[in-house]
Amino acid sequence: MTGPVNHMSKSSLQPDTRDRFNDLAVKGEIQRWQPATLIGGGEDITVPRLMPKRLYAAIISQFLHGERATAKLCRRLIGAIDDPVVHRFLVTQIADETRHAEAYARYLDHLGGARAVDANFGQALNQALEWSGPPQAWMLGFHVLLEGEALRTLADFQEFWPCPVFRRMNALISRDEARHVAFGKLFLRDTLPRMAAAERRAIYHQLDVFWRDVGGGLLADTWVPGIFTRGLRQRWLDDGWRHHCRAFADVGLLPSRQISEGAAA
Ligand SMILES: [Fe+2]
Ligand SMILES: [Fe+2]
Repeated sequence: MTGPVNHMSKSSLQPDTRDRFNDLAVKGEIQRWQPATLIGGGEDITVPRLMPKRLYAAIISQFLHGERATAKLCRRLIGAIDDPVVHRFLVTQIADETRHAEAYARYLDHLGGARAVDANFGQALNQALEWSGPPQAWMLGFHVLLEGEALRTLADFQEFWPCPVFRRMNALISRDEARHVAFGKLFLRDTLPRMAAAERRAIYHQLDVFWRDVGGGLLADTWVPGIFTRGLRQRWLDDGWRHHCRAFADVGLLPSRQISEGAAA
């Protein structure tokens, strides 16, 4: 995406949106929790049956890297959006993401330490952090797509992964993530209707590329070898994209009919 980042004045947000940002910020300030107390009780970490420990650690590590990238993104959003109520919420989100990263890092300490970011995923994150253009593209990429994906994936893992420490940690993380997604969707529903259709279509195409880049590691068989066939992994990615497209339509990026037709220009 090209062009300078748009700076938005606070008057461009509706009073109702601003009230709800305040409510979400207050919730974020109240609902803080301590990673040290959650994982420090000496309870054993349970690796899923038939899964090598190094693979389990590699997958959990991707969440850690996603958290760190999201905290970076929030700092950039503070620079791009000139509005104290948005800043107030984003400060709570940075605290949340920092805490999530700490929780994953502590958990990974019991599994031999954090592993490297998957090359495709890391590159997709770095490229997205460099997007210029309106901050709405970042919100769609991080608050709707990535955080929505984290919620979707954690809900699935929660079902199949037996570790009680992981479950407890992720119940708390998912509660925070739901608040972040709510913030992003409110911001987008308020501001996207005032954006030109051509600009919204350009963002949609950017998100499409981002999703393929994020999923590249999964298809390239680097972090779930032998667990699923390539066909099943492709289906998982396709289901995810449909899920995220519904969310894009829901916040007013494009009418759902255009999205299902691939947002033909
Ligand atoms: Fe997070
Ligand atoms: Fe988040």
